[in-house]
Amino acid sequence: WPFHAPLIHAINTLKRVRNAVILAHNYQTPEIFHGVADIVGDSLALARQAASTDADVIVMAGVHFMAETAKLLNPEKVVLIPSLSAGCSLADSITGADIRLLKQKYPGVPVVTYVNTSAEVKAETDICCTSGNAVQVVESLGVDRVLFLPDEYLAKYVATQTKVEIIAWKGHCEVHERFTGDQLREYRTRFDGITIIAHPECPPDVLEASDFVGSTAQMIDYVGDKRPARVLMVTECSMSDNVATGLPDVEFIRPCNLCPHMKRISLANILESLTTLEPRVEIDPAIADRARLAVERMIAVGR
Ligand code: 13P
Ligand code: SF4
Repeated sequence: WPFHAPLIHAINTLKRVRNAVILAHNYQTPEIFHGVADIVGDSLALARQAASTDADVIVMAGVHFMAETAKLLNPEKVVLIPSLSAGCSLADSITGADIRLLKQKYPGVPVVTYVNTSAEVKAETDICCTSGNAVQVVESLGVDRVLFLPDEYLAKYVATQTKVEIIAWKGHCEVHERFTGDQLREYRTRFDGITIIAHPECPPDVLEASDFVGSTAQMIDYVGDKRPARVLMVTECSMSDNVATGLPDVEFIRPCNLCPHMKRISLANILESLTTLEPRVEIDPAIADRARLAVERMIAVGR
């Protein structure tokens, strides 16, 4: 903190000058999450908040697809992503051309895409979803089957929660795919009475070995409500750091898988970005108009 304090002070001062708001994903480091963020949350909360802010400038302390979603919902505002290399293995796993081919193969089948996709992919989509509302979005369509893209494991998880037939793609999150069911069983043996909660981007054997499955915000709410004596959050490890500060009575057991993309955002590049008002997220208007519809349809479904 002593080293972070001058940067935090400078960012919070400049934020007021710029009438800027900093949205931070739950995976950001504690100095960003607790030090400079105005709004923190999962992808769904960040999309909702981006839709309702009256700031002139939005700084996305998250990854590129999250900044694009904020820009889609705020075409007139300046949306900044402090590092253009903050990508996502899921977003990189599928292109607009892939979706066009799938639509030819499955004519008339609605396309649901995870928000972890590019605007170009969203533009080919009927409706978006996040890990927090995926089942609800799929069921809102009132159909027997959907294309659910690109996360294979989230698709498999959704298929266990609904009667709607789910056609999946082969995208994976490079952070969550590394966890294994064996690893979780080993933690159960080593730590008596441990509660294990997992993100649905994990492989099926991990989810089967867990006590609860939910989005990052749902995982945080679960720990806040249930106050387990010991918990293992099977997800990006900064999240445990962020939550642990407010829950001294809970012991957090942490295998550490970091998202290299989220970690490209730092206090230093947030300050640089607010100073220069760069790098800005811009989306081709022809793509943006169609992609926005898919995100707005998701927001209309509710949580
Ligand atoms: P949430 O929507 O659950 O926050 O997940 C986003 C993400 O990128 C998880 O890896
Ligand atoms: Fe993408 Fe996985 Fe990083 Fe989330 S944790 S941003 S899904 S690579």
